[in-house]
Amino acid sequence: METKTVGVLGAGTMGHGIAQVLIRNGYTVFLHDLSQQFLEAGAGRIAKGLNRDVEKARMTAEEREQALSRLKPTMQVADLGSADFIVEAVTENLEVKAGVFRAIEPHCGPGVIFASNTSSISITRLAATTQRPDRFVGLHFFNPVPVMKLVEVVPGLATSQETVEAAERLAISAGKTPVRVNDSPGFVSNRLLMPMLNEAVYCLMESVADAKGIDDVMKLGMNHPMGPLELADLIGLDVCLDIMKVLYEGFRDSKYRPCPLLEKMVNAGRLGRKTGRGFYRYAEGKV
Ligand code: 3HC
Repeated sequence: METKTVGVLGAGTMGHGIAQVLIRNGYTVFLHDLSQQFLEAGAGRIAKGLNRDVEKARMTAEEREQALSRLKPTMQVADLGSADFIVEAVTENLEVKAGVFRAIEPHCGPGVIFASNTSSISITRLAATTQRPDRFVGLHFFNPVPVMKLVEVVPGLATSQETVEAAERLAISAGKTPVRVNDSPGFVSNRLLMPMLNEAVYCLMESVADAKGIDDVMKLGMNHPMGPLELADLIGLDVCLDIMKVLYEGFRDSKYRPCPLLEKMVNAGRLGRKTGRGFYRYAEGKV
């Protein structure tokens, strides 16, 4: 079945970005969140992103208007019943994710594919909380979604070949490059990235260098576009900590233990750009 309408669950950093690339590429998107405030914030960020595309002559003003007319923000789960494909991008917590799938499943037809943008939770485990483990797949986008090319496509134990192929087609038609990765803690991306970010926090905690020094080493010496601490602030320190815990518990290997300073920052509410303070300070509204 050809996918034309996608339900995106969660209008936050990842959800709004996913909705943006989908409406830009011809999909109708029901963007669901729990409050009007979250929906308005997500829709505002999408409009801002598309305005930037018009300014940069990557699309015309008319195309922007058409794209925005395909965006249907909603707080009603029943509206998701008209979607052919669901992409979940809510809080990185198994219970929360399982809860939203439970809430929408009665509204969705049997052929509808459920995808999770989880950054590290087992797809097999999430799929098993639904009635459709064969039509459940990981679809892991990267932040900022409109810019980053990669999507990890992650089959769970029961995921059918047709589901994986449909997910890959969706990623390609949203302008992304899918890479198939098996279900394993952190997949490939976060198994490689997060220990590096975590180690950068250890370097800071042990005063090996200050934050700018650590970031400069990786930017100037390794050509990374951002230093690890800047990147952790962009991703969100709470997200980084959650992923380190998934790696630590998933492999039961001490090499993945979260840095105590990372835990302390999260406990203090210094979560990075989204709270205005992480390893760096940010002007209000700069996310
Ligand atoms: N949202 C949308 N677009 C953004 C953006 C954002 N948050 N930040 C930057 N951009 C766009 C800019 O508008 C600009 O586009 P344009 O000028 O063509 O319109 C383009 O990106 C380049 O931006 P800048 O010139 O301001 O800055 P840079 O050249 O330094 O690029 C960057 C910014 C793309 C964020 C770059 O620094 C980068 O690639 N950083 C690494 C990002 C990364 O590693 N992301 C993956 C995180 S891991 C993850 O998401 C997985 C999860 O599970 C944790």
